[in-house]
Amino acid sequence: MVSIEVHSSSVSQTRQIGESLARWVLSGDVIDLRGPLGAGKTAFAQGFARGLGIHEQITSPTFLMVKSYVGRFDLLHCDLYRTSGPADVEMLGIYEELDAGAVGIVEWGERANGELDAVVVVEFKLSEEGPESRILEFTIRDDSVERFGSLWRIQGAR
Ligand SMILES: Nc1ncnc2c1ncn2[C@@H]1O[C@H](COP(=O)(O)OP(=O)(O)O)[C@@H](O)[C@H]1O
Ligand SMILES: [Mg+2]
Repeated sequence: MVSIEVHSSSVSQTRQIGESLARWVLSGDVIDLRGPLGAGKTAFAQGFARGLGIHEQITSPTFLMVKSYVGRFDLLHCDLYRTSGPADVEMLGIYEELDAGAVGIVEWGERANGELDAVVVVEFKLSEEGPESRILEFTIRDDSVERFGSLWRIQGAR
């Protein structure tokens, strides 16, 4: 496992970082977004969708738990905030769609109890530096470190 911290100083920068990440994804990949409400997970997912060539407006799927979009890959945007556990996640049918070639971006992915096997986990943290400041800690799965190596060149990485 390799971790890297990226600093964001605005919502548009968080979207840009999400957009950059989308360059290196492959079908079947899951990105797991963690952190408190208002940390910027949905903003990141909006940029990520833009990076997949999706022009449709990405909104929070909180009440539906999963929404799908068509782009360079089919994108499943999930929000597990209201889920009651891994069985719930299975019922969403996302694993079948991932097997069929979709890419998943999952807010509150920790609520799937490790079932997601994400290639990248992004932990969002608020920062003392100011109300619009965020720290995004990327943890990359061992077999995918090389593929996501360019993350080191994202603006704000340290
Ligand atoms: N650096 C930043 N990155 C992301 N969002 C930010 C940032 N600074 C301020 N914000 C604000 O924080 C909120 C994040 O909301 P959202 O992306 O819906 O969070 P989450 O999905 O984690 O609950 C938005 O109102 C956004 O404008
Ligand atoms: Mg959200």
